[in-house]
Amino acid sequence: MTQLKNKHFVLGLSGGIACYKAAELCRALIKEGASVQVVMSEGATQFITPVTMQALSGRPVYISQWDTRESNNMAHINLSREADAILIAPASADFVAKLLHGRADDLLSLMCLARPIEQVPLIVAPAMNREMWANPATQRNFAQLLADGAHVLEVGAGDQACGEVGDGRMLEPDQILEALRAYFTEKVLDGKRVLITAGPTYEAIDPVRGITNLSSGKMGFALARACRRAGALVTLISGPVALATPDGVSRVSVISAQQMYEQTLAHVLDSDVFIATAAVADWRVHSAGEQKIKKSIDQPVPQLNLVENQDILKTVAKSPRALSGELYCVGFAAESENLEQLAVAKRASKGVPLLVANVGPQTFGLDENALLLVDEAGTRQLAWASKDDLSAELVRELAARLAK
Ligand code: CTP
Repeated sequence: MTQLKNKHFVLGLSGGIACYKAAELCRALIKEGASVQVVMSEGATQFITPVTMQALSGRPVYISQWDTRESNNMAHINLSREADAILIAPASADFVAKLLHGRADDLLSLMCLARPIEQVPLIVAPAMNREMWANPATQRNFAQLLADGAHVLEVGAGDQACGEVGDGRMLEPDQILEALRAYFTEKVLDGKRVLITAGPTYEAIDPVRGITNLSSGKMGFALARACRRAGALVTLISGPVALATPDGVSRVSVISAQQMYEQTLAHVLDSDVFIATAAVADWRVHSAGEQKIKKSIDQPVPQLNLVENQDILKTVAKSPRALSGELYCVGFAAESENLEQLAVAKRASKGVPLLVANVGPQTFGLDENALLLVDEAGTRQLAWASKDDLSAELVRELAARLAK
């Protein structure tokens, strides 16, 4: 993933139990190719040591505005000028209250106040007890912080360190990372409503057996994340897969091709883009057994009577909204050979402006893929890369076509 590569973050920790998550966050940022300068409040040092944060960030930690290591003795100026963003995680209720009043009685608050507002965004990840979070004073403070131009991340819900249960937990490091990736992604699909089908379908033979395929859903889920990062409102209709729903994406889980067909037709009515990445079963068993089919030496081997499933993409592509250009349809093709030739033919038979072809057996279950884009102008190869990077490129291709 490239969004955070070579970005420089000042990671500010204010005092709260969620400081332990900041260690993991720091590590994850570095793993993504970012650099991190940690600044801690005195309170934060009660929860996690500067030694830990120094080891993880690979840089000495700053705590005091009187730090003599800076030759001009102005850590608050120097640190904030270098940053692509200041990320406060955790942001305690008290620290936010301080920010709002423009107070600057320690290095962290002083640095936030001294940052060039136009160039250095302030991103805050709130973390506190549910009563503190719900308190009108806190809500008022965060509303004002937003109005002052900060980017406030959501809070998580669930068990809290104090034993209570509710809203106010700091997001998990991977959720913060995802929010940062979205923050640094150009909003080329801003406000577009995108519907995506993903994963395999499962066609029952009886209550314990069925017909399915090797699709993992990873390409469709990566595409859902990429569209979301680019500002789209994404609905993901997924067959049975073992993948977490991407943050900010609305998911509809289905099992069979028939269910995927029904859900797609229901949701596509208010979509601007339809992307069919799902590996939909072409056939289903005519009448699936209600009881488990038993094997018996007296009975012949059961014969499956297969009937064809509806072609979801073809149906949507010939709907009036698709034909008028109000709805842009993208098909996928999973082939095992003759990729270009079959993809060109499939694009024509499905009636879609853009078809994305891949060699199924080469990519099923993997985090990488190679894609061949086919449209009326010809073909374009996207070389073997992570499904995340390919999705980001596909989103740019899509946005360029929507802008025409
Ligand atoms: N598709 C669909 N509904 C189906 C079958 C396929 O929406 N019943 C969509 C897929 O999501 C994909 C495209 O059609 O976007 C092509 O799917 P693929 O499985 O590659 O091809 P098929 O149409 O099934 O044709 P074949 O199996 O003969 O290659």
